[in-house]
Amino acid sequence: MGRFYATTPIYYVNDVPHLGTAYTTIVTDAVRRFHQLVGDETFMLTGTDEHGQKIEREAKAASLEPKAFTDRISQRFREAWPRLDVHADRFIRTTDSDHEAFVAELWKKVEAAGDLYLENYEDWYCVGCESFKTEKELEPGNVCPLHKKPVERIKEETYFFRLSKWEKPLLDFYAAHPDFIQPVTRKNEVLAFVQGGLKDLSVSRTTFSWGIPVPGNPKHIMYVWFDALANYRSALGNGPLTRFWAPEAKVVHFVGKDILRFHAVYWPAFLLSAGFSREQIPATVFAHGFLTVDGQKMSKALRNAVDPLKIAEKLGPDVLRYHLLRAIAFGQDGDFDHAALLERYNADLGKNVGNLLNRVLGLCARNTDGKHPDDDVATDGPIEAELFNAYEQCVGAAFTNWQELAPHLALEQTMKLSSAANAYVDRAAPWNELKNGNTARVRKILSRLLRVLEAISVMLWPAMPAKADAMRAQLGLPPVRAAVGIDIWPMKMPSVRAGLALAPAGPLFPTFDEKQQKAILDELAPPKEPAVADPKPAAPSPGAGTGTGTGTDTGESAIVAYDDFAKVDLRVGVVKTCEKVPKKDKLLRLTVDLGEAEPRTIVAGLALSFTPEKLIGRKVIVVANLAPREFGSAEFDGKKVKLVSHGMLLASGPSEDLRLATIDGDAPPGARLK
Ligand code: MSP
Repeated sequence: MGRFYATTPIYYVNDVPHLGTAYTTIVTDAVRRFHQLVGDETFMLTGTDEHGQKIEREAKAASLEPKAFTDRISQRFREAWPRLDVHADRFIRTTDSDHEAFVAELWKKVEAAGDLYLENYEDWYCVGCESFKTEKELEPGNVCPLHKKPVERIKEETYFFRLSKWEKPLLDFYAAHPDFIQPVTRKNEVLAFVQGGLKDLSVSRTTFSWGIPVPGNPKHIMYVWFDALANYRSALGNGPLTRFWAPEAKVVHFVGKDILRFHAVYWPAFLLSAGFSREQIPATVFAHGFLTVDGQKMSKALRNAVDPLKIAEKLGPDVLRYHLLRAIAFGQDGDFDHAALLERYNADLGKNVGNLLNRVLGLCARNTDGKHPDDDVATDGPIEAELFNAYEQCVGAAFTNWQELAPHLALEQTMKLSSAANAYVDRAAPWNELKNGNTARVRKILSRLLRVLEAISVMLWPAMPAKADAMRAQLGLPPVRAAVGIDIWPMKMPSVRAGLALAPAGPLFPTFDEKQQKAILDELAPPKEPAVADPKPAAPSPGAGTGTGTGTDTGESAIVAYDDFAKVDLRVGVVKTCEKVPKKDKLLRLTVDLGEAEPRTIVAGLALSFTPEKLIGRKVIVVANLAPREFGSAEFDGKKVKLVSHGMLLASGPSEDLRLATIDGDAPPGARLK
């Protein structure tokens, strides 16, 4: 038992909470809950990252002062997480005055250590990453590989941080602390980066003002990452909470792989420079992978950013939490698929755990007066021994998995235990024992099962706190109550609770039949109207943000630079063939002549407005350089084929009354629009 301090990244307020940010936040909360179960004293931190050029520009685009803008979006994050049953101990904002004061002090310490110097600087900068880029890191056309946007040339006076001086100490530190960077594959990337040589880092800017002023030289504001990384320590202040930054505390930063370098290289270097000892550097930075949605990168352009709150509202936060924690191997990239979420819910929660609970409660209602039975007459047989072995193995492995930051494996073990208990019900066949009048044996069987169910309720709690407690209520037990210094992980099978009344309350995880699944999917992930430009909503959604990067589309049009617009290849096309897509009400599959060797196949959401005959021969406007997009599969002439669209038609209006964009006169197929 010890102290455990878990942090999420602080999120930029250029976007509202989406599935990606929810993912990190849910994992952090779940791991911290596991540590609560084992009696650790814990602290969890999340918050918002509010300074810097990116936010200043977003605020301007929204015609708001930066502070008013950040107040608005930060609040969205603050309100979102409790709705996913995430309860951090502090929600920090980099505009909080105690944070700003701490960062100024940190700067002074780094300066006193001789690690800052002023110089003129010129380099490429990606505002999306808030990071300088070397030419090597850029794609042709000086495009940032992450944001797919041209970087900017920056030339100004800047303070440099002597990162080069820390190269060797960092390498020594990594060698002495093999768990600092996880998982190992990511660690190797960081090692290679540092071994390749560290250049000094520009840590101040003069060409905008939204940030923390450099002490003694307010013409400069601090680099947003110097400011942001410090949140992990500033949040604890200088009082009693510093016990979470002491050598005996375990500090774990959960981050996405996109921001590992900042956490694993810059942050420890800043800390060492400011005089923190090696023991006061966090224990672990864990870089998880990125989520795609239904096989595609989440992006505003594709309008596919998933709103976690919508799922939580429909299915309860626990269902989303469970799926994210179980379906994605923590540390690897993963795909989020709405249909898979429902399938997993049915299989793991409905048919496995939920079924076990129902069966056992039903048997108890009929045979033990609705109470926990005793277990002191019949002796154990081989199947009890087998269940016991499965118990020891699963509970022990799940414990290690949580400790080693592998929630997907911990939950796999939890399900394995539930399957073993279901198998035990079948093999023990209490209904047969009853026929033979073996009531003592029936009591043993049910008592054993209730004890396993109690253990499962605890094992599920980090992932599904509300459902775990609801399960316990049916078992007649109080909610999980974690307390510092008391380890309640069920390493040993919970004791017999003879006489305690059960409180069955209907299925905890009612399964969804096909029709219900379809209805849920239609609501949560309505089929996109592919290959037809989706009209913007009439008015921006209230309180929504604007911005770049992944995230929910707020309905407000962002300004695009001419160069960006010029990348869109709009062409005149002529529809050659057109047919309805079986079983997809809205879709048509067309081939369109764009003056190329072969006509293009395009899948379009036009079927509610046009019959195929009405389209054949028509001139249309096509976005010709859109990445191919898949819309599941369909059967044509008894053959299942993938529906892949190689372009998008432009149209306007609601899906049942669409008007196609077209062109005057006789422009030939393939003519470019400019
Ligand atoms: N403000 C910085 C972090 C500063 S921490 C001192 C930042 N913010 S962010 O809003 O861009 O959020 C980044 C984090 O959100 C990622 O590191 C990752 O944890 C999470 N994710 C955002 N999109 C994601 C996916 N598509 N998939 C998984 N996680 C993603 O960077």
